[in-house]
Amino acid sequence: MTEHLKMDQVQPHLLDETGQGVLSVPMPRPEGPLKVTGRAPYAAEYKAEGMATGVMVRAAITKGTYAVDTASVEDMPGYLGVFTDKMVRNAAQGTMGTNPAQMGDKILYLGQPIAVVVAETFEQARDIAAVLKVDYTEDDDAVCDFDGVSDWPDSDKPDQGDLDQAMSDATFTVDSMYTTKPHNSAAMEPHAALAEWDGDKLTLHGSLQMLGYNRDEVADSLGIDAKNVRLLAPYVGGGFGSKLGMSPDCVGAAVAAKALGRPVRVVLSRNNVFEMIVLRTATRQRLRLAADKDGKLLGLGQENWQSNLPDEPMAEPVDLATHFLYGGENRRYGQHVAILNRPASGSVRAPGEAVGMLALENAMDELAEKSGIDPIELRLRNIPEKHPETGVQYSARSLAEALTEGAKAFGWDKRQKAGTRREGEWYIGMGVASAARTNILMESRANVTLNPDGTALVQTDMTDIGTGTYAILGQIAAEMLGLDPQKVTVELGDTDLPKSSGSGGSWGAASAGSSVFLGAKAIRRKLAERLGCEVEALRLQDGVATGGNNRRPLAELMDAPITEEGHIEPGQTDEDYHQAGYGAHFAEVAVNAVTGEVRVRRMLAAMAAGRILNRQTATSQVWGGQIWGIGTALTEAIEHDPRTGHVVNNDLAEYHVPVNLDVGDLEVMFIEERDDASSPIQAKGIGELGLSGAGAAVTNAIYNACGVRVYDYPATPDRIF
Ligand code: MOS
Repeated sequence: MTEHLKMDQVQPHLLDETGQGVLSVPMPRPEGPLKVTGRAPYAAEYKAEGMATGVMVRAAITKGTYAVDTASVEDMPGYLGVFTDKMVRNAAQGTMGTNPAQMGDKILYLGQPIAVVVAETFEQARDIAAVLKVDYTEDDDAVCDFDGVSDWPDSDKPDQGDLDQAMSDATFTVDSMYTTKPHNSAAMEPHAALAEWDGDKLTLHGSLQMLGYNRDEVADSLGIDAKNVRLLAPYVGGGFGSKLGMSPDCVGAAVAAKALGRPVRVVLSRNNVFEMIVLRTATRQRLRLAADKDGKLLGLGQENWQSNLPDEPMAEPVDLATHFLYGGENRRYGQHVAILNRPASGSVRAPGEAVGMLALENAMDELAEKSGIDPIELRLRNIPEKHPETGVQYSARSLAEALTEGAKAFGWDKRQKAGTRREGEWYIGMGVASAARTNILMESRANVTLNPDGTALVQTDMTDIGTGTYAILGQIAAEMLGLDPQKVTVELGDTDLPKSSGSGGSWGAASAGSSVFLGAKAIRRKLAERLGCEVEALRLQDGVATGGNNRRPLAELMDAPITEEGHIEPGQTDEDYHQAGYGAHFAEVAVNAVTGEVRVRRMLAAMAAGRILNRQTATSQVWGGQIWGIGTALTEAIEHDPRTGHVVNNDLAEYHVPVNLDVGDLEVMFIEERDDASSPIQAKGIGELGLSGAGAAVTNAIYNACGVRVYDYPATPDRIF
């Protein structure tokens, strides 16, 4: 039986009434010990009988066509084949939000996968790939840099009111151009696939975020029925958007394995990951703010310029949070996407807010400085009653609480005027920024099984990409079934299990969590019937059911396991409520007066995201956001060669994610909140919220320290003095 709920239907809040107290509390990830002892297998670690190894070959030109000369390598040791067939190339950009079919046999960027070389061993495949002769015909009309762009097509985003008029009526204005560099998701685990065929049936171990969706992509690319594809990804070493869609290793391995009649494994090198996988576009953003004498916004504008390959539908939604965060009658958003011959732009952690909030929240800091209003007070004054563009009411929104309670905890009252606090050769400053991230609920299914011995099993094709899915799904089932979480086994990452939301867009916890909640709720109803009590009166505790005047051990109520499916569907809540997570980021930095070096001494994040399912895993998610904020503000930048579009810094030695010494003390606090409109479990996404605005808190602190406003990111020392 399925317990099915659409979000526009009334929902009970059983989670507060079960009284187990195993939800929301900090609980370590149950799979943690397996991971840190190397016993949790990742995609590249699986082996299969008779397995061959494939290595990707990348295009060495920016634009044109090519032909591979296989005769040049056929005699090399271990050679098994070179596969350039249409399917491999079509999968070149096979990432969510892209259009794999448009590739044809063309090269559109340097680094594009054009073949997979397969040999008996990895070393042999690598050697063959290194000397494989490829004949190129180059086109001379490649455009690789914003400076070469002549056409910036207009988006059709409608204006509201008249921003130009508001700017001339305003007492205080900001009109600033910000730029951000492209970013890489930089997940620890590179993309990898092991493909095995049994007749028409393909089994593929991959490193993917959304298995149900990825199964359809793989099937489409191979021209087979999705029923014949099984994907497995029980452990994933980070995704951050880069594994939302299938990667070229998946189709490369599948095509080669089919042709050779043996299993094939393809692991992307770190260079491959930088060159073949989607990155976040570079942006230019013009921010305009028009405010009256009290700092109240009369209008705002956020126009942006970015790039992608031809026919790619993805555009970084730079203004996503700007639409609903602050008021102001007059609003303008223009989006202009140029065609550049660089790797495809796609989803990288917090698409939109990661760079959009960086610019907006710096502009707000500029406005605070110009108007002489405290940055927190300025933000409080501009929190709108209703959505300023649609008039829709907000669901739970604790932005004001996050700003004020965060300020208190951080010691904001000790902040001084810009450039006035100095310790030796270091300027010290504090900065703040709002955080906001649209909340999304996705359709998701899970099976929940309760056994007579008081153990339980949760099964769904959901992934745990390092986010804590194993922990929270087990906690939800344990809370609902009255069990110690240790008694609940969670099985994930297999498309043979019920189809889930997958992990992405910070929707995973609330979506998959709601399906587990609903499955467990259906079990409770069945137990209440058997016990002869109202379901509201049922109490489950450590294998004993009580209700009304009855009290019986589960073993007496059940002679066989009970399995129920939970199924959550989004419904129409957007029209009734605008939903988002909110928060505030605080940073204290030291800026070296001689070198311009910035050190982040401490950060505090005050986050409000509905019910917090596990304070430990939620805190870890926010830490990740804070650290990514430091990277966005100070270190992370993909450099494209302006002549070829090549990703020059294509490894983790040259692409600088923050390391331990770059990160000061991190503190996370949660604002107590329940969001009835968000999901049956009243929870909202937290992962990407942790990044939204985090970088702006750092650069606003730089301004407060030394009076330098950074407009071009990252804020490397050369941009400070
Ligand atoms: Mo999300 S872009 O899958 O971190």
